[in-house]
Amino acid sequence: MKISVIGTGYVGLVTGTCLSNLGNDVICVDIDKEKIEKLKKGIPTIYEPGLKELLVKNINNNRLTFSDSLQYGIEKSDIIFIAVGTPESESGEADMKAVWDVAKNIGKYINGYKIIINKSTVPVGSGDEVRKIINKNMNAKKHKFDVVSNPEFLREGSAISDFLSPDRIVIGSDNHNPAKIITRLYEPLNAPIITTDIKSAELIKYASNAFLATKISFVNEIANLCEVAGANVEDVATGMGLDKRIGEKFLNAGIGYGGSCFPKDTIALVSTGKKFGYNLKIVQSAIEVNKIQRKLFFEKISKFFKSRLENKKFGIWGTSFKPNTDDMRESPSVDIIKLFLKENAQINIYDPVAIAETKKIFKNKINYFSNAYDAIVDCDALVIITEWDEFKQVNFSKVKNLLSAPIIFDGRNMYDLNYMKELGFKYISVGRNQVL
Ligand code: UDX
Repeated sequence: MKISVIGTGYVGLVTGTCLSNLGNDVICVDIDKEKIEKLKKGIPTIYEPGLKELLVKNINNNRLTFSDSLQYGIEKSDIIFIAVGTPESESGEADMKAVWDVAKNIGKYINGYKIIINKSTVPVGSGDEVRKIINKNMNAKKHKFDVVSNPEFLREGSAISDFLSPDRIVIGSDNHNPAKIITRLYEPLNAPIITTDIKSAELIKYASNAFLATKISFVNEIANLCEVAGANVEDVATGMGLDKRIGEKFLNAGIGYGGSCFPKDTIALVSTGKKFGYNLKIVQSAIEVNKIQRKLFFEKISKFFKSRLENKKFGIWGTSFKPNTDDMRESPSVDIIKLFLKENAQINIYDPVAIAETKKIFKNKINYFSNAYDAIVDCDALVIITEWDEFKQVNFSKVKNLLSAPIIFDGRNMYDLNYMKELGFKYISVGRNQVL
């Protein structure tokens, strides 16, 4: 079966590349000609570990091709993945324009039986809408097709391994036959496959992301309580996580979640609830706690310096929303840097891969460094926003010598409190005692 994947963003490019690596013929389609030209040459358009190797390998095997023509992609394939963006609209709902446009084009160019798979994160009921749009845009000659929902659960930074060894694969279909065909497509992965109706599959994606976001906000609230009560959130989280019903993952307290999914999907889920007249109170609270968390971290810094941040210089390590990605979408760093700039503080930043993305946002308002140590020279404090691995193994005596005072604010709880004390740092993290 020939596959086309429409949209070469995070989800589309990883899906297309991995499906071709499983032995399928895949055409990745995007209307962005520049992107397609780069991809044809094997140049990845996103930073994702392992992607380049797979891209080059499968292009060379002639299993992976690229096209900027939707018509070509649609006509040449039996299975069409829709993997275009569904950004947050002003009202908070997912903006479905790109998905509807693809559906219109499928209606226009469909030339035989096809399975249309919604891979984009789309609100419940979107599968029905895609079906309607395709039917409406078909010319006199009617072709049969099926719509399937197959949400992705890829994490940036480990998207390839998440695709190739998923915890589960969700296939939502209102008919048995397409579900069987798509199940076969994923069989080589040897992962648990769950088949549901389309609406349930659509909701599994949102409910999973909202639950994980809630888990993070929950532990962040506990962290805030730990701070005032004198407890240690890491110990609390470990104690909680050992209960198998709770699980140890996603209990790292810090400055909250960012990225392209959790912030957008939680808001969209609340919006969907409203549309159906139901108020999702827990998810709404998770969103609010997340917003406050980054502000609280900044306030701790401000309080430490008695609200006098003007002309003070801070070296920030990490600006991407999490390690192993250059993605800055909804990154806590953006809000925190803005708060610093509002107080006329000077900001130096270092990030292993996100400098170019950071420049797009802050231009010449802050200073950029290509080395972690250079970024903290003569700074009043080091501020850690993203827990990149390279920050774990730093030369602390060098850090101490370069800073104008040995002060570290750590939004990701990277270091041991006793060790920081021994080294003579003032060390302020999240949900743990301050080392002063
Ligand atoms: C997430 C989902 O994990 C993935 O299944 C979905 O398809 C897309 O959204 P991603 O946004 O790439 O993936 O990152 P993830 O690793 O899940 O982290 C999200 C955010 O939560 C990051 O900002 C991270 O720093 C934060 N986080 C995560 C915490 O603050 N604490 C934790 O314990 C875990």
